Amino acid sequence: MGEKSRKPLLVLYASQTGNALDAAERVGREAERRGCPVILSSMDEFDANSLTLEKTVIFVVSTTGQGDAPDAMKVFWKYLLQKNLPKSWLEGVHYAVFGLGDSGYQKFNFVAKKLDRRLHDLGASAIVERGLGDDQHPSGYEGALDPWMTSLWRVLYQINPTFFPHGPDYIPPTSQLLDQPKYQIVYHELGLLQAGLSVVSDSKSPAMEIERARSMSPAKLSYDKSTPDAFLKMVRNEPLTRKGCGRDVRHFEFEFFPSTISYDVGDVLEVLPSQNPDLVDAFIQRCNLDPEAFITVCPKQRGSHHLLDGSKSGQALPINLKKYVELAMDVTSASPRRYFFEVMSYFATAEHEKERLEYFVSPEGRDDLYQYNQKERRTVLEVLEDFPSVQMPFEWLVELVPPLRKRAFSIASSPSAHPNQVHLTVSVVSWTTPFKRKRMGLCSSWLASLDPLQATGVTIPAWFHKGSLPAPPPSLPLILIGPGTGCAPFRGFLAERAAQDTSSSAAPIMFFFGCRNEGDDFLYRDLWLSHSHDGGLLSEARGGGFYVAFSRDQPQKVYVQHKMREQSQKIWAALSEGGAAIYVAGSSTNMPSDVMLAVEEIISKEGGVAREAAAVLIRRLERDGKYHVEAWS
Ligand code: 2AM
Repeated sequence: MGEKSRKPLLVLYASQTGNALDAAERVGREAERRGCPVILSSMDEFDANSLTLEKTVIFVVSTTGQGDAPDAMKVFWKYLLQKNLPKSWLEGVHYAVFGLGDSGYQKFNFVAKKLDRRLHDLGASAIVERGLGDDQHPSGYEGALDPWMTSLWRVLYQINPTFFPHGPDYIPPTSQLLDQPKYQIVYHELGLLQAGLSVVSDSKSPAMEIERARSMSPAKLSYDKSTPDAFLKMVRNEPLTRKGCGRDVRHFEFEFFPSTISYDVGDVLEVLPSQNPDLVDAFIQRCNLDPEAFITVCPKQRGSHHLLDGSKSGQALPINLKKYVELAMDVTSASPRRYFFEVMSYFATAEHEKERLEYFVSPEGRDDLYQYNQKERRTVLEVLEDFPSVQMPFEWLVELVPPLRKRAFSIASSPSAHPNQVHLTVSVVSWTTPFKRKRMGLCSSWLASLDPLQATGVTIPAWFHKGSLPAPPPSLPLILIGPGTGCAPFRGFLAERAAQDTSSSAAPIMFFFGCRNEGDDFLYRDLWLSHSHDGGLLSEARGGGFYVAFSRDQPQKVYVQHKMREQSQKIWAALSEGGAAIYVAGSSTNMPSDVMLAVEEIISKEGGVAREAAAVLIRRLERDGKYHVEAWS
């Protein structure tokens, strides 16, 4: 066997929420089980320049938001797009692309498709047709991944039989299936710790604890910064919706420290939620863990995901086990991945549990697992409680329980109007599963439960960063479209303008808001109305306007885009004469693309150009930084 034929299979992935990482790990695992050595790497840890040295590369990439690439892919993608790369740059490189996307969005798997095209244009050869995973499929992206992998193994075997010594269809017997956990847990004696390390006193600092727990958490994403920028203290928690109307949207105000942190309107605030302490205790008890233990989580292979961390001296600082679970393991995260069930099946000691778990991870059981796990959104803790004979060692739990994620919100305030404060507009997430079980979103329901009047208060770790809505300069006329909680950043924009505005001739602002009913969820009603009267920022007198669509106050739906069409001439004038910028924000899946269609229609009608030309004009607006969208689900 020549050196070349023994080169491991390279699996490159770019993940935003962790799903593409799961899929890439699964591809890697399945290949390794068939005897093929694998190197798994996130795109942001891979030097794109060395792609030409590879023989075979498997790409696993997700598409996020409105057709965007994950952050981890941005540098890599920029490199591939360079104009001076020769057409034959990747000649001789074999590749396969698997994408993760949602066909509910217009730009379904856009990133996988454009990556496939670019690799082909650079001379690489696709060995199988790209696979397109779809969240809308009855068994999620795995519905497409399984058959895609089957073809992949067969083609790889044809290209190079040494990849699979037992043939492409060989599957090792179940008893051998268990891989080795990637992490090792070191348990420390408390007495020795106190004598030797300053760790116990260090643990008193929340910032240190968070950094330590998150830097040891295996599934930490590479762009995830551990130490919080600031800590928040809630000073206001107020409902914006009518009690009993079926929706619960809150206005939250926080003070933050250190007060030296600054942000801009349109920025995003990330919050690390606290887990319910009873559920953390229940998890620790269910898994037979010692909450008082002091541990260090060490990757077995240096550099497998990230290096052993925790102290500047290079020595890993231990953390209390219960703190680690609290800060780094989301024990109520919904729908654990398939591999979780696979490893559970290995540790099940009751025969009926083992059988059920083995069925779940078999191809025949895929749809039933999807019903049990994804549709019902079973939590990690519930799944463990459903299979009481399973005792997974802690190192497996550390690897398989998803990390406690930060949640991102569009900031609803202006630092000029409220120095040292940050405001959020948050919809408290709740839903009923097919079996009528009520579920609540972890972060939003926790925030809603906090009482600002409590003397002790809670400090909330938070991170500030740029989103996709740049702060508009004061002289820029604006067309803002923000139905539902999409109004949040625009509350910040108006507050900023109001704080800056000394003249009545400031640039005009049109704001399109939408909600279900005038009496139920007209968020910040008085604020918008006060700005639209008496020469206010949204007043007609200033060339602006406030337009609201109540979608359910009449038999037929009325949405923001209907209100925009009614203002067709005014929008066109603002765009063509005023040089206005369009900002769109909101949570509906289809809203941003429906709004874009309305803009296209308006440009076509009022500008007297064909639809295609109007679409080109929108592209130009996007390129010139005059069309911005921030969407969330
Ligand atoms: P609906 O729930 O009655 O369908 C805020 O969520 C508002 O956005 C609601 O009034 C909601 O209406 C509306 N909405 C839902 N889908 C939309 C879309 N595609 N375009 C614009 N608004 C939409």
